[in-house]
Amino acid sequence: MAGYYTLAASSVRADDLPPEILKRLPRYPVLPTVLVGRLAVDRGFRGKGLGSVLLADAALRVLKGDVKAFALIVDAKDENAAAFCRHQGFRPFTSRPTTLFLPLGTIKKGVDAEVI
Ligand SMILES: CC(C)(COP(=O)(O)OP(=O)(O)OC[C@H]1O[C@@H](n2cnc3c(N)ncnc32)[C@H](O)[C@@H]1OP(=O)(O)O)[C@@H](O)C(=O)NCCC(=O)NCCS
Repeated sequence: MAGYYTLAASSVRADDLPPEILKRLPRYPVLPTVLVGRLAVDRGFRGKGLGSVLLADAALRVLKGDVKAFALIVDAKDENAAAFCRHQGFRPFTSRPTTLFLPLGTIKKGVDAEVI
């Protein structure tokens, strides 16, 4: 196996989000997200774009799914993982810098799908 990830329904508290993100979302105290877990690429396949492809695949599955979420979430296990996610456009939560989110609205522009 060259790489893998898992997806799990998750949520974040609205007051954990920066105001510029929050103002574009429904005014709920808790917002639905999808947690991308265990994202990893076999050492022999790294540096060839597979990690990016796996994340794009995760985003498309969520965008095309029936259960809506406003963002992908990752729990970075170390600074290397966090740096990869930041490079992919994820932003850290101010209250928890090792947890990062990627608003799916930023991806949706190029996808014929409907999301919050
Ligand atoms: C992090 C990981 C998934 C990256 O996989 P990969 O297939 O080597 O990554 P890609 O080849 O798709 O890299 C895509 C881009 O991210 C960049 N990148 C890769 N690793 C990076 C890192 N640690 N920090 C910053 N940028 C990184 C690449 O330079 C590339 O940039 P470009 O598109 O501008 O050329 C892989 O190194 C891995 O499995 N690490 C161990 C597990 C882990 O940390 N998982 C992350 C959990 S959040």
